[in-house]
Amino acid sequence: EKSGYKHFMLKEIMEEPEAIESALVGRITMEGPLLNELKEFNVENVEKIKLVACGTSYHAGLVFKYFLEKYVSVDVEVDVASEFRYRNIHIDKKTLVIAISQSGETADTLESVRLVKKDGAKIVSIANVVGSTITRESDVTIFMNAGPEIGVAATKTFVNQLVVLYILGMYILKSKNIWNEELEKDFQFLKKSPNVFRKILTTINLDEVSSYYKNYHHFMYIGRGINYPTALEGALKLKEISYINATAYPAGELKHGPIALLDPTFPVFAIVPKDKLFEKTKNNIEESRARKSRIIAVTNESNKELEGVADDIIYVPDSPDDMYPLTISPIIQLFAYQIADKRGYDPDKPRNLAKSVTVE
Ligand code: M6R
Repeated sequence: EKSGYKHFMLKEIMEEPEAIESALVGRITMEGPLLNELKEFNVENVEKIKLVACGTSYHAGLVFKYFLEKYVSVDVEVDVASEFRYRNIHIDKKTLVIAISQSGETADTLESVRLVKKDGAKIVSIANVVGSTITRESDVTIFMNAGPEIGVAATKTFVNQLVVLYILGMYILKSKNIWNEELEKDFQFLKKSPNVFRKILTTINLDEVSSYYKNYHHFMYIGRGINYPTALEGALKLKEISYINATAYPAGELKHGPIALLDPTFPVFAIVPKDKLFEKTKNNIEESRARKSRIIAVTNESNKELEGVADDIIYVPDSPDDMYPLTISPIIQLFAYQIADKRGYDPDKPRNLAKSVTVE
């Protein structure tokens, strides 16, 4: 059932265009973003949002936080479930709780849902597996419709989480009568994103670059703003399937400690599209180079300012600033996949890991 692909992980990455299409069905309308699931929720009154999730799903939640906070003064907090459930969380009528879980069976995420339910909170879950526990225990589920994901590494489900969360953010903003040109561009981009993914996945070739980098023992992923969660996700993907020590920092944090690690044996993987924060991250790249780290950077194709600055550059199609987490996600996934495969590991079955973490 791998349809000719060497691994499920690669097959599932290649399925991303169709997965996105399924996530968008019925949610992109002439009037704008729509989530029928939330009709009863009066999202226009929401003042606080608490997201709870683990691993990759947590990273998707962080992207949502950066996106929504840019446009509205709603307090968005994202927490990993194993922390959330032991904190003293205050929920009121204006708080929306969103639990994100691909499998719908993650123990800590489920316990977090049960905890806030006791306080009378309404819970929206974002899940992929129909009939999973979280879909029964939350008030409503927004399905990500990615289709079954067999590989332990979350790939197409991460992409679909992002898509669903962007739609959710846009739906909340529209309900609050907040809409502008930038959001309209984001919305139009989501519509065509399946084709953007088709283009990326048919043209990208990371063969040479992954052959080169596969022998390193350490990686430092950096990004800023909405691209910081992508750095976290890139590092998680690499460590879970290739067993390379990858760490991720907001680029501005480098000089507060981690830069001490950098030397020629410790490359920097920079997520750095040409957005408002580009110059800042470019400075951090230059500081890293001064420590003789090799630099691999992902940026957008019309931005040539990294030539001569980064050693290797991977280009993605120009996208609205808010949307780079989406366009860059297949790159970090394929990079990790290629490295794991070239190191001789089976990325579908990483050691010590299970697809659903049903124990705490
Ligand atoms: O099923 P969930 O979304 O609740 O799973 C959460 C994490 O266990 C999961 O995302 C994990 O980090 C992935 N293996 C990452 O690829």
